[in-house]
Amino acid sequence: MSAISLAIRSIQLTNYKNYDFRQFDLSEKINLIVGNNGLGKTNLLDALYYSCMTKSNLTSADAMVIRFGEDFFRIAANICKDEVEHFVEVKYRRQEKKEILLDRLKMERQADFIGRFPCVMITPDDHQLISGSSEQRRRFMDVTISQFSQEYLSQLMLYNKVLQQRNALLKSFYEQRRFDRSLLDVYTEKLVNAGRIISRYRMDLVHQLVPVFHQVYRQIFEGNEGVEITYDSDVQQADYAAVMAAAEQQDTQAQRTTRGIHTDDLQLELNGMPLRKIGSQGQQKTFLLSLKLAQYELLKANKGCKPLLLLDDIFDKLDPQRIAAIFRLVSSDAYGQVCITDTKEREIGVLLQENNIQSFKFIPLGQV
Ligand SMILES: Nc1ncnc2c1ncn2[C@@H]1O[C@H](COP(=O)(O)OP(=O)(O)OP(=O)(O)O)[C@@H](O)[C@H]1O
Ligand SMILES: [Mg+2]
Repeated sequence: MSAISLAIRSIQLTNYKNYDFRQFDLSEKINLIVGNNGLGKTNLLDALYYSCMTKSNLTSADAMVIRFGEDFFRIAANICKDEVEHFVEVKYRRQEKKEILLDRLKMERQADFIGRFPCVMITPDDHQLISGSSEQRRRFMDVTISQFSQEYLSQLMLYNKVLQQRNALLKSFYEQRRFDRSLLDVYTEKLVNAGRIISRYRMDLVHQLVPVFHQVYRQIFEGNEGVEITYDSDVQQADYAAVMAAAEQQDTQAQRTTRGIHTDDLQLELNGMPLRKIGSQGQQKTFLLSLKLAQYELLKANKGCKPLLLLDDIFDKLDPQRIAAIFRLVSSDAYGQVCITDTKEREIGVLLQENNIQSFKFIPLGQV
């Protein structure tokens, strides 16, 4: 079965970061957003991400997205999926609730919207997946799975809420020098139920992701010796409830929940050693690109739709052969709409010509 197409035809930004008001019309295949530093290339890419995911890929605070000195922002996008045009609108005014409209219909819950327009963004910030804390790697799993499972997203939200409640309870036990077994059990059971579901999804994700990751790695970079990804979890092989029961004393002392899926991690390895410690910059970059493109493939397989691919500044430090390999890959039929930012318009133009890639559009920033 071939995947159906998805493309943002046009996007209108009002008070979105450095844009006061601007409309961009896009090609359904490759878009090259070019211009000097600071002109708004990343911001435009992030706005495209926003219109699919109803949040920024760069910041979790919607207020940061509003253009300095203004009090609201608006994004309006025409998105074509399987030859049907949709109109997406996101509005946010300081101190008010964010509004998401699909075809003029207000979405009551974010979960009702997310996943309709799958999207993968690759940015220099992805490096935090390697150098950052386990929270970054959990977020990677969460973002991926949430796009194809509403159940996952709602269980995750439930888990996080109950986790906070259980932690508050443990703190109150300590402060008030009391212990209420039955009350703690209520929260533990809720946590275990949601945690089991989340853990199963994450295990499945890694199981599906790893072979695709190896394949993509081989495809672009010719060779995948020794790269590995494994799911590292307290509760993976064990009985979840037993793990929680065994940790109870520790939890009471620490005044917080010490075990569970909120401590999960992904081990990223090169030749059996942590990638973070042993990988060269090039190897790390290669690893990340393959990981994110594997995420893309997985989303495509699960959604039956080619996600929107947003590539921010990925060519930096890559040699021309690798850049050409990436261009050939993303211009193939396996990929749908692709938006790429770069500062070097001329060099990119030459590369595209040399590789006989014709279906692209330049979007130069800086001139209106
Ligand atoms: N909330 C905001 N209001 C107004 N301007 C903002 C806001 N947030 C960021 N900016 C500005 O937007 C400008 C463009 O940033 P952006 O990161 O998109 O540039 P870029 O074209 O990607 O540059 P580079 O080539 O260096 O990556 C910056 O000058 C930044 O200060
Ligand atoms: Mg940028």
